[in-house]
Amino acid sequence: MKKILSKDLNPKEHYNLLISTITPRPIAWISTRGVDNSTNIAPFSFFTGISSNPPIVAISIGKKKNSKDKDTLKNIKEKKEFIIHMIDEIFAKEINESALAFDYGESEIEKLKLKYKNGSLVDVPMIDGVKVAYECKLHKIVEIGNVPMSVVFGEILCYHVIDDALHDNKADEKKLKLLGRLGGKNFIKFDQDSMFEYKG
Ligand SMILES: Cc1cc2nc3c(=O)[nH]c(=O)nc-3n(C[C@H](O)[C@H](O)[C@H](O)COP(=O)(O)O)c2cc1C
Repeated sequence: MKKILSKDLNPKEHYNLLISTITPRPIAWISTRGVDNSTNIAPFSFFTGISSNPPIVAISIGKKKNSKDKDTLKNIKEKKEFIIHMIDEIFAKEINESALAFDYGESEIEKLKLKYKNGSLVDVPMIDGVKVAYECKLHKIVEIGNVPMSVVFGEILCYHVIDDALHDNKADEKKLKLLGRLGGKNFIKFDQDSMFEYKG
């Protein structure tokens, strides 16, 4: 195996090596509302579940090119609530287009003509047609690194899962077919033939 010392890589090289080796990653498509009542949605794949008691997820959010907070982070800091959506490949176009840099207050939800209703416990848009949605309240934010990255910890207040995937409060991945993120601009769609159960 080739050995690469961290001290020999610049941040961009670290980023490329991380996103091409931590694969596949789940995608949190996060909607928020601003104090000005504007709506926002953007995808984040530095995302994982970290605790079940209480149920907590973590998402790592970088800065905009101008070093300001991304709109998602600004809204989460202000309103302390958000919704994480998980989707299949039907939303690939919307995922990518909602990652483009819009000015604050310009809603990707309106631009992409996404249909939504309001969350049941949080005052945040919940997008129609997704497979899973978590209504979350902010638990805490930890700043890491020199840029810095903001690691947002969110407590799940409420889960939404499509009816036919849910049995005994467990979801069937074969029904969800959630989209994953790989390195570069690559994605991976769920393929049942690639799935196996380990019977040790
Ligand atoms: C699939 C995908 C995954 C992404 N993951 C992250 C991530 O984990 N962290 C991050 O800061 N940006 C990530 N981005 C970039 C943000 O989505 C992008 O900066 C977006 O414009 C932020 O929007 P906002 O300013 O409305 O919050 C990702 C983009 C894509 C397409």
